[in-house]
Amino acid sequence: MDKDPAIRFAVDVHHGSSIPIPPANSQKSPMSDWKPCSWNSKSASQQPCYNSKAELQAVVSELSERPPLVTSWEVERLRNQLALAANGKAFLLQGGDCSESFQACRADPIAKKLKVLLQMSLVLVYGMNKPVIRVGRIAGQYAKPRSSDTETRDGITLPSYRGDCVNRIPFTEEDRKNRPELLLEAYSRSAQTLNYLRALAEGGFADIHHPENWELEFVTQSKKSQQYHKIVNGISDSLRFLDTIGGVANGDLSRVDFYTSHEALLLPYEQSLTRQSIGGTGWYNLGTHYPWIGDRTRAIDGAHVEYFRGIKNPIGLKVGPTASPEELTDLIRTLNPDRKAGRLTLICRFGAQKIQSCLPPLIAAVERIGHPVLWSIDPMHGNTITTDHGIKTRRFDDILSEVRDSFLIHEEHGTIAGGIHLELTGNDVTECIGGTGGLQSTDLARAYESTVDPRLNYEQAMEIAFLIAGQARQAS
Ligand code: PEP
Ligand code: CO
Repeated sequence: MDKDPAIRFAVDVHHGSSIPIPPANSQKSPMSDWKPCSWNSKSASQQPCYNSKAELQAVVSELSERPPLVTSWEVERLRNQLALAANGKAFLLQGGDCSESFQACRADPIAKKLKVLLQMSLVLVYGMNKPVIRVGRIAGQYAKPRSSDTETRDGITLPSYRGDCVNRIPFTEEDRKNRPELLLEAYSRSAQTLNYLRALAEGGFADIHHPENWELEFVTQSKKSQQYHKIVNGISDSLRFLDTIGGVANGDLSRVDFYTSHEALLLPYEQSLTRQSIGGTGWYNLGTHYPWIGDRTRAIDGAHVEYFRGIKNPIGLKVGPTASPEELTDLIRTLNPDRKAGRLTLICRFGAQKIQSCLPPLIAAVERIGHPVLWSIDPMHGNTITTDHGIKTRRFDDILSEVRDSFLIHEEHGTIAGGIHLELTGNDVTECIGGTGGLQSTDLARAYESTVDPRLNYEQAMEIAFLIAGQARQAS
């Protein structure tokens, strides 16, 4: 959808006054023209249409007074770590739901997601012999881009469901109404989720001496779980030995860094959490550590790119099959004009069938301009299919094949596949077909929970971690 006048509001919430809107299409605008609200002068796709502009503005003003969720110091620490990943000295593991639901803001699902990511990261650290940067699609991943503004069932047309921060899933007029107050709810649930994640990551839960904390009770029989336990036992033996000879400070291994990310889709919300860092070094999105631009909202002259160019966070850019080399290099120059290391991650999502033709020309173009980027692999979003029964799924073999090909193509070009971006869950779901568990399309109905894209379950997620760890060992 193109920009809806209902969401246009050129009020600078940070200064409480109206600001002049810069001329449209100022692709090469200097940074001095940028403000958290300057995106208003551009065309913003994928925004919900709200009935009341005043209500939306009231919510945005309220949110802009609330405390930020993260700090600029954490954000900068992450950027430095991503710079290492771009050079092959660390590896990025980013994963979580396609879309979080308010309902899943509960202790158990949050802890399970962290458990899967901790187990995967252990396999990766062990196999790749380098630090792993753990990032959740979590604590704010509430908005979804949709292919159509409306949905029609039995002759009735209603607004599409755009995520829990916009409207609700049931197909009734009341539920599908876009409500600005859900943005406040999204902020609260993000804060609660992050609060729990921080406590788990900082406290005894993440202690490498107690990997039993990360066990998921339903997977003890799985092959990947057995393979994982072999690694855990090996690590535990080494730790016991090192502890005995006093070679390792226990404190270093009792906590982990864990960062949050989401698609920064709803610009009024993102604007409200965009703050000057304490000390005034610049504007940061402090609603998340690591926001990304979706494949559908990366127009060079669009509102999302305008918003992203001014924030100092490390950012992701989804790159799909329609991105041309020229488009990509223009975006890179606009989003990272200072060539800052760790600033820009290209999250490539072409699909198993297209990666061979799409990725090499883009690598060549980026190499030509010599910008430092982190190449990450999203093997999910180019591999979505619909079964004969109308169920959205992904074939695990396609996902594996895209991961494998990405590593090989980067190796051939002398560039680095420095990260992986996955949709996964710690719940025992049946949403993607295949993997060592042998899920068939007839199994999908058994435990299909996602309301948007299908996610990897534990076993499938661990299989990817083992594949990457194995691939890294072969290459070294
Ligand atoms: C997503 O990550 O859920 C998504 C919508 O991805 P993309 O923008 O790559 O289609
Ligand atoms: Co998705």
